[in-house]
Formats: sequence, structure tokens, C-alpha cells
Amino acid sequence: MSTVLEQIEQQIAKLSAKAVRKNTGTIRTLADGVAKIDGLSDVMYNEMVQFPGGAIGIALNLEENEVGCVILGDVSQLKEGDEVKTTGKLLSVPVGKALLGRAVDALGQPIDGKGPIDAKETYPVEKIAPGIIERKSVTQPLLTGIMAIDSMIPIGRGQRELIIGDRGTGKTTIAVDTIINQAKINKVGLASGDPKFRPVYSIYVAIGQKNSNIVRTIAALENAGALEYTIIVAAPAADNAANQYIAPYSGASMGEWFMENNMDSLIVYDDLSKHAVAYRQISLILKRPSGREAYPGDVFYLHSRLLERSARLDGKGSLTALPIIETLAGDVSAYIPTNVISITDGQIFLETDLFNQGIRPAVSVGLSVSRVGSAAQLKATKQVAGKLKGELAQFRELAAFSQFGSDLDAKTKSQLDRGARVVELFKQPAFDPISIELQVVTLWAMQKGYYENLTISKVMSAAASLRTFMTTRHDTLLTKIRTKAAVDAEIEAELKTACDSWQSTFSA
Ligand SMILES: Nc1ncnc2c1ncn2[C@@H]1O[C@H](COP(=O)(O)OP(=O)(O)OP(=O)(O)O)[C@@H](O)[C@H]1O
Ligand SMILES: [Mg+2]
Repeated sequence: MSTVLEQIEQQIAKLSAKAVRKNTGTIRTLADGVAKIDGLSDVMYNEMVQFPGGAIGIALNLEENEVGCVILGDVSQLKEGDEVKTTGKLLSVPVGKALLGRAVDALGQPIDGKGPIDAKETYPVEKIAPGIIERKSVTQPLLTGIMAIDSMIPIGRGQRELIIGDRGTGKTTIAVDTIINQAKINKVGLASGDPKFRPVYSIYVAIGQKNSNIVRTIAALENAGALEYTIIVAAPAADNAANQYIAPYSGASMGEWFMENNMDSLIVYDDLSKHAVAYRQISLILKRPSGREAYPGDVFYLHSRLLERSARLDGKGSLTALPIIETLAGDVSAYIPTNVISITDGQIFLETDLFNQGIRPAVSVGLSVSRVGSAAQLKATKQVAGKLKGELAQFRELAAFSQFGSDLDAKTKSQLDRGARVVELFKQPAFDPISIELQVVTLWAMQKGYYENLTISKVMSAAASLRTFMTTRHDTLLTKIRTKAAVDAEIEAELKTACDSWQSTFSA
């Protein structure tokens, strides 16, 4: 026993009392927004570290004798040998209603020149997604205002619906339309004074986009009066990869604040393909091994932990996610698209061919699906749109097939004719979402054959004229459809009278 004690005493005596600098380190190497740091022995995974000059880093690689950090903010002032301090805090961003109407960077700092943001709270950027006990199934609709989507691929609050398609097929437009529609619904709902009305607040996260595109999106939202219900989180292409990597998580935290505080919110990630590329860049510089398509092995986890944070919480609010993925030549079987398809509850697939034929929004009915949203679809929409998706898918097949033969039987001809009218009906210009009551009217008139005697090219303008007619002359009927959310015998009778009188005024 005594020998053990002696040994310990000897060991202690040998220790020198030299101060050890535990929580500071020095930059050993610095490249492309990633720093390797010596001496940060106390740092936590994902902890914020402070660089001189105010730049912030996140510790991502904790190795035996160095720490790999990505740097957010300006790296031009940093050099090797600079001192780095740990902060003891996980990366956090400001959250709350003060951010509405503002454009911020990946760290939640304003970039719109409208002054500081007075946020009372902050949330950590990385949060564990809610577990299954806390969740509730989707039952409330989230209306996009796009007829083809609300009637055939309905989305519910808390759902994750992927928007996928090639470059320039209208992906951003669908997301922006949805945000604009929320603002429109919010204005009507809040003005109605209905205590049960739940507004939806939106967050648009722009990742790796050109600044000019982001400015265009903000302008579209502002013109539509939707900015006051929206937070813009921007990590443009000119930002370093670390900012682009963090931005969607920051946006998710801002959305979670609404969800936790019994409100509903919608988040758009535009787009996750560029997010994956930014993460690949960081990983390769951190010397993590690369795998399929040179992406690191955890790229699935990158997106799954982000999208799992969208949910509808029992007794609280919801966070609906619309992630966007860009495909190359329509290839949905590439690595990142298949990953994200498997994480989401459905996808809206946009086809280049349709877009070029002028069928916009270029939604492919065959390849688009919403796996949970029909539980949230309004009864009125179900009543008027019931079989449209099947009919339209059948039409596309028939149309391709009938190109080869001229002898078509009467039934096929009438199917083709009806299909062509539905296609026309679903064409909709950008940034012009249609309220659900007007969608019901438009589709009800289709169901009852009001567009049947028109030339096909006139269907779109006829539907638009019907909507104008209804808005100006039958406002009470529209309110009735909205509040009842179903087409009963009384509404049906009134619709018939209204549509009949519209038909007599409309000349094609
Ligand atoms: N429904 C529509 N009607 C008419 N034009 C549209 C419609 N949707 C999109 N466009 C037009 O198509 C172009 C591309 O749209 P958008 O930017 O939304 O596509 P994207 O898929 O997001 O493109 P990118 O791949 O560059 O991000 C825009 O000029 C837009 O105005
Ligand atoms: Mg886009």
C-alpha cells in the first residue's frame, strides 16, 4: 500500500505547475474557409469558436492533435498563427417575429440595410428533431394557390414535399407562389377575426444562388405584399461554403420557433442540391473520405436531420418543408435526388418538355405524388377534383399513343378532348395564386361541362373570366364556399345560377 502512495507522491512531485492554455488555440493552416487549429483541447463538437476580427467558426472535426473548423464570415483578415478562442456555446441564431419582413444571412444578421433586428430569443442551429411521441398526423391543408397542386397533389401542414426538376423549370416559382398564397390567406383570415384561424409564416432559404436571383425573389414577394409574413435567409453563391452549409439549419431554427410557440410555418430550401455541393466542398477540404459522386458518406444524414425537423407537433404548431432539388436531364436516380426523395413525403416533379410546350406550371402528374396530404385536403376540393389526377395521367398516355394512329373510336376521342381541356385549365401564370374558393368554382364548372363547347385554346381565358365574374358579383357565395369548405346542395344550386349567368355573358 505504502509503495503505491509513494509512487503517487513521486508522480505529483514531478508535475510542474505551468499554466496550460486550454481554451485557446492557434491557426495552423487556413484554406477555403476551413481552418486547422492547434490546441483547442476543450472544444465541443459543433461549438462556436471565435476568430480575431469577429469571424466565427464551427468545430466540425475533433481529432487527436488538431481541430478542423469551418469559418463563417470574412476570412480575408485571418492568417496562420492567429489566436482562436472557444466560446462554450453552440452556434445559435436569433428567432421570433422580429425577423419577419427581413433578409438575414446564415447567422441571422440583417443584410437588408433596414437596421438591427430586435430579437428576444435565440435557438441553436442544430437541434434534435421531434420524436414520434410528440408528433401528430397531418390533417390541416397548406394551400399553394396552384390549382394543379392543390387539387391533385395536396400538401398538409407539417408535411415535407419535394419540388424537383431540371434547371429553369419553375421550381422557385412554385415555392414563391406558395409563400404569396399564405400571405393572401393570412390577410383574409386575420381580417375575418375568426379566433380559430391559424396564419402561416414563411421562411425562404436561398442557398448558393446568384444574388440577382435572390433580389428577384424578394421583389416578387414584396410586390405581392408577402414580405411582411416572410423571413429570407440568404447564403448566395458568393458566400463561402460554410455559410451555405449552415443556412438551411438556421432557417429551420427560425421555423421551429413558430412551431414551438403554437404557430404554423412554412420553410423553402432553395435548393438542397447546392447545399450538398457546399457540404462536399467542406468535407473534402477537411479531408473526410469521399464516396459516391464524391459526396461524403454522411450526406444522407445531412438532409435527413434537416428535413426531420419539419413536423406537426401535438398541442403545438407545425413546420412544413418544401425542399427543392435540381436534376440533370431529368435524372431522378442520381445520388442526392434519390436521397431526398426517400426522406420526403412526396414530390412535385417538373418536366422540361411540358415547360417548353408552354404547359406551366410543368407538373408531371404521373411522377408527382403526395403521400400524406390527401388526409388534409378540403372536402370541397375532393368533391370537384376527385378523379382528375387519374384522368390526366391517362390522357398523357393516350395522347402519346394516339400520335401513331388516326382512327380513334369515339370514346378515346372524347377522353382526349376532355384531357386537353383539363391541361388548359391547369395552366397558371407565375406569382398569381388562386384562392381555394375560386379553385373550387373553376373545377366545379369543369365537372359540370361549362367549358365543353369552347375551342380548347379558349379554356384558360374562360376560366379566368369566370373567376373575375365570381369575385366581382358573387362574393358572398365565395365566402360561403370558403367557410363551409364543402359543396352542399345549397352551394351547388347557387353555383349553377352563377355559372349560368356567367356563361350568357362570356363570348369566346
Ligand atoms: N407558371 C409559370 N408561367 C409562366 N412562366 C413561368 C411559370 N413558372 C415559371 N415561369 C418562368 O420560368 C422561368 C424559370 O422559373 P424559375 O426561376 O422558377 O425556375 P427554377 O426551376 O427555379 O430555375 P433555376 O433552376 O434557375 O433555379 C422564370 O423566368 C419564370 O418567370
Ligand atoms: Mg430556382
